[in-house]
Amino acid sequence: MPYIEWTDEFATGINVIDCQHKRIIHYINQLTDAQNLNSPEIIGDVLIHLIDYTLSHFAFEESLMDEAGYSAASIHKQTHEAFREKINSYHERYRAGENITDDLFQLLNIWLMDHIAEDDSSYVPVVKQNIPGINADEKQGWLKTKIQEFFS
Ligand SMILES: [Fe+2]
Repeated sequence: MPYIEWTDEFATGINVIDCQHKRIIHYINQLTDAQNLNSPEIIGDVLIHLIDYTLSHFAFEESLMDEAGYSAASIHKQTHEAFREKINSYHERYRAGENITDDLFQLLNIWLMDHIAEDDSSYVPVVKQNIPGINADEKQGWLKTKIQEFFS
């Protein structure tokens, strides 16, 4: 498979979120490497990073939605939880010696198209309106505090 690239169709327009979403593209391309190199180690590495991603990125995104009073936050959180459970189950299957590359590759591609390009774009207007300066390169303030809370 050729590498995939980030395009504007995946962009929320919130810089800090888009940077985090680009990690999914990186993981998909790492899976392509894993297939080409026949390397289970790379798949294990992707899974470990995905487990971290499902904790830190989702918690960050959910706090933005809560902070903004986004009305569909609870449905969005359920989608995150379902993805988190899938990643954990793939990790278990991987640890049991199963080759989950194709399943994981498919899951991440669907996530990119359905969740990042669709579901996530739905909260953008509310979050942008309620968190002024969300796109500013702030050295102080709310955004910096949140980033430290979830990613330090
Ligand atoms: Fe999301």
